[in-house]
Amino acid sequence: MIKAIYPGSFDPVTYGHLDIIKRSCALADELIVGVLNNPAKSPLFSVKERVNILENVTGQWSNIRIVPFEGLLVDFANKMGANVIVRGLRAITDFEYELTMSQTNHILSPDIETIFLTTGLEYSYLSSSTVKEVAAFGGDISHFVPEVVIKEMDKKRGSIDSIN
Ligand code: PNS
Repeated sequence: MIKAIYPGSFDPVTYGHLDIIKRSCALADELIVGVLNNPAKSPLFSVKERVNILENVTGQWSNIRIVPFEGLLVDFANKMGANVIVRGLRAITDFEYELTMSQTNHILSPDIETIFLTTGLEYSYLSSSTVKEVAAFGGDISHFVPEVVIKEMDKKRGSIDSIN
C-alpha cells in the first residue's frame, strides 16, 4: 500500500502543483497533501486559507486529504503513516535543493522514500512566486491558477502589492 505525502507551501496552489497532485493520486493508494505552516515566514495566505483553497480545487479525487503541518516533514510523514514523499522537479535548478532535502530526510527516516515527478512541460516555468509577482502588477494569472485562486488573490490585492 502506498500512502504518499506531497508537501509544500502552496502559497498559492498552481496548475503545476495540480498536475503533480493528479498524477500522484493515480500512483498512490492515498495521497496526503501536507501544507507547511512555517511561523518564521509570512505567506500571502494563512495555512487555513491554503488548506481551504486546496480542498476546493481537489474535490475530483477521492483518495486525497489536505492536512496542515509544522516542524519536520519526516515527523509529519511518520505521524500520518506515510511511506513515500512526492516532490515535483521543474528544471535542473530545482535538483540541488531537492537532492539535499531528500538525502536529509533519508538520513532522518530511512524507511520513507522520496520520489520525484517531473512537472509537465507546460508548467515547467511556473511557481507560486511568479503568480504573486504577475498578480501584484495586475497581470492575467488565469494561465497559472484555477478560478478560485484568482478570486482569493483578488481579495488580497493590498497584501500582494506590499509583498513585491
Ligand atoms: O513548496 P516548497 O516551499 O518548496 O516546500 C518545501 C517543504 C515544505 C517541502 C520543505 O520546506 C519542508 O519539508 N519543510 C519542513 C521542514 C523540514 O522537514 N526540513 C528538513 C528537510 S531539509
